[in-house]
Amino acid sequence: VTAAADPIPPTIEWRDGAIRLLDQRALPTKLAFIRCADVDSLVDAIETLAVRGAPALGAAGAFGVALASAMLPRKREVRTAAARIAKARPTAANLAWGVARGLEAFERGGHAGALAAATEIAADDVRRNRRIGAHGLTLVPDSASILTHCNTGALACVGYGTALGVVRAAFEAGRRPHLWADETRPLLQGARLTMWECGRIGIDATLVADGAAAALMAAGRVDLVIVGADRIAANGDVANKIGTYGLAVAARHHDVPFYVAAPASTIDLATPDGDAVVVEERAGDELTTIASRRVAPRGASAFNPAFDVTPARLVTAIVTESGVARSPFRRSLPAHVRRAAEDVTPPP
Ligand code: MRU
Repeated sequence: VTAAADPIPPTIEWRDGAIRLLDQRALPTKLAFIRCADVDSLVDAIETLAVRGAPALGAAGAFGVALASAMLPRKREVRTAAARIAKARPTAANLAWGVARGLEAFERGGHAGALAAATEIAADDVRRNRRIGAHGLTLVPDSASILTHCNTGALACVGYGTALGVVRAAFEAGRRPHLWADETRPLLQGARLTMWECGRIGIDATLVADGAAAALMAAGRVDLVIVGADRIAANGDVANKIGTYGLAVAARHHDVPFYVAAPASTIDLATPDGDAVVVEERAGDELTTIASRRVAPRGASAFNPAFDVTPARLVTAIVTESGVARSPFRRSLPAHVRRAAEDVTPPP
């Protein structure tokens, strides 16, 4: 499928000296784009989830350094701006990874270097996601009922998707998957984004409330769970959208395989385990309101961690662009990171 034929436009591009983002806040009502022509507007776009999803944040980080280096005359200022972008959201490993890649390229080759690196990261994202899809296909039987959480499709990346990319690969291979899409409270990435993507691609998807997942498993209506990741620690603990851990517990209880799909850039070997992951806490009004309408009494107290950590022992396998990693992850993951860096693994 060429980029032009893809039913979902790229989430992030460099256009006319600025970053053009597909504005995920407007979906599914409107397919709209925003232009970030300075660092402030990019940081705002990241914080308010106009651009979101770990791999998309990686590309946004690298393009952010290109943007900063186009605007700011001094190297010192570019470095400060880069640090600000990297901290806009703390949990996804890819954001700081993308910023670091952009900054290295900037230190070597100035603005042109940073822009070339960001452009390459964006193109590479789609290639790597297709490889994740091809490897993940080995785990998806014909006519499987697959449950997923949040949005891990093209919108969460530059294109194609990671966990939803595996479902897409199964669909494109004629395996007729059926997807249960968790709505994903509080910000409804499943309802708004995953359902929109599946509609565009033609994947048979059914929206369910987050609370329905365990009952579906108990009824034997889920063959496998596949989710993405924001950060994978060296021991295989997985930080992902809040609610993922509960799914993994339910999957283990019902003997349903629980898979994680992510590019090697999400694996952070410097984070020893889930305890060391910084979980972003977001404003309580994301819980007390739905689409700006208040659903809790005025003044209600709310606690809103955006992510949780699933312990490695509940993870059946982790699919990367280098293949399928199994437990013990402390041993299997470094090879995936190494092979991904060498970029030589052909799809199966
Ligand atoms: O808060 P979000 O929407 O950025 O959270 C996204 C997720 O939790 C995704 O599952 C994760 O980033 C993987 S995206 C391929």
